Amino acid sequence: MIVLALLTAGLFPSCYYDNEEELYGELPCDTLNNTYSGAIAKLMADNCNACHGGSNPEAGILTDNYADLQALAQSGKLAGAVNHQGGFSPMPKGARKLSVCDLQRINLWIDNGTPQ
Ligand code: HEC
Repeated sequence: MIVLALLTAGLFPSCYYDNEEELYGELPCDTLNNTYSGAIAKLMADNCNACHGGSNPEAGILTDNYADLQALAQSGKLAGAVNHQGGFSPMPKGARKLSVCDLQRINLWIDNGTPQ
């Protein structure tokens, strides 16, 4: 897993730089009002709730409400999964990693103590 990540990073370094430039340069990342209701709930709805919502969520994990998402964040699994850390299933499953800006929002939200 880690070897693969290193290989990929080594083979395509320019892609990462291009993405970052695009996201930071042309579209500054708006991390104001970075609360659950202000930003994170919509991010989850757009990327996660299709599988992790409703009455029969994948892996028994719900991302469609504040209490469950807060618990997921506090367990370290939310950051592990979206940042593609070793030992976690990379999310969103079967799709591209979230944008640098979306990851920044999620990581900041967790660092700030998951404000509602
Ligand atoms: C296409 C369906 C799908 C989508 C979309 C999806 N997940 Fe998952 N998720 C799964 C499945 C299935 C599992 C069970 C583990 C596995 O099969 O990889 C899982 C597992 C997880 C886990 C546990 C990971 C671990 O290693 O313990 C977390 C946390 C998680 N998802 C969060 C998210 C978040 C946050 C998003 C949105 C950014 C997301 N998922 C999007 C299907 C999905």
